[in-house]
Amino acid sequence: MTMETLTVRVRAVEPVADIVNTYELVDPDRRPLPPFTAGAHVDVHVPGGPIRQYSLCNDPRDHDRYVVAVQREDAGRGGSKLLHAEIQPGKTLTISFPRNNFPLFETAKSHLFIAGGIGITPIMAMMMRLRALGADFHLHYCSRVPERTAFLKRLGAEFAGKVTFHFDGGDPSRGLDVKGLLKEIRPGTHLYCCGPGGLMKAVKNASDHWPPGTVHFEYFSVDATAPKGGNTAFEVEIASSGKIYAVPADKSIMQVLRDNGHGIDSSCEEGICGTCATPVKSGDIDHRDMVLSDEEKKSNRWMMVCCSRAKVGKIVLDI
Ligand code: FES
Repeated sequence: MTMETLTVRVRAVEPVADIVNTYELVDPDRRPLPPFTAGAHVDVHVPGGPIRQYSLCNDPRDHDRYVVAVQREDAGRGGSKLLHAEIQPGKTLTISFPRNNFPLFETAKSHLFIAGGIGITPIMAMMMRLRALGADFHLHYCSRVPERTAFLKRLGAEFAGKVTFHFDGGDPSRGLDVKGLLKEIRPGTHLYCCGPGGLMKAVKNASDHWPPGTVHFEYFSVDATAPKGGNTAFEVEIASSGKIYAVPADKSIMQVLRDNGHGIDSSCEEGICGTCATPVKSGDIDHRDMVLSDEEKKSNRWMMVCCSRAKVGKIVLDI
């Protein structure tokens, strides 16, 4: 991994629900931090652990702090447990610069958000931005029980009339009627969803008939249920040098490029963060990432070389 990083100091840690803490991050010398846009995330290098992506949930007008919210996943891969256990005010962390794979379409007539659980985090920043713009928006916030609902009080106080809570007690059939909500297309409205895989899938299925480019998802884990083709071997060519490398079925393009001395930035290495986006000149690509929109995938101008492959033949990378 060769990407540029920032060192930040944890100024405050606050519980915002059962098993959810916010972490306020500032520059150690109190300088302004690089700006971010609503929907952006940073990669957090968990000390002694993995790199994890967390959305910035504060107001994008804040120039001196980033705030992330972390839900402790006891059955997860360890990053959130380590953060909850080890990170106290005063500690320093290494993070990436903010990146945004989930931007707001600010010129839309109105905005409809569906958040599930900790998927509320990017949407907090998006709603603050829309409030500053005086734009029309509404959030449907799905959660199991109020005690586990991050930012519950704050949303009720600051966004009264703009939020509908749906508590299902753990039984999705008692939760939001996604199909009913999305049945009618609302002209000029953009739909944004972030949450667990089941909710994202339900929203995707229920919004299939919405106009292209109006429905947006933010993934923080790979959809294990997504169909994946078997891997086959193919070739990758570097446009600037004309060099051609064989990519065997058991290696990614990223691995092959690194084996041959090409530095490729990466973070998640599973198609969810967008760090390894690489321009493409030609090729028939099997896009396997969760970052590019359907239109971007169709355009074949970029690919995530950590996970996507060629359907057949050769891919020419514009590097
Ligand atoms: Fe995250 Fe490739 S490294 S998408």
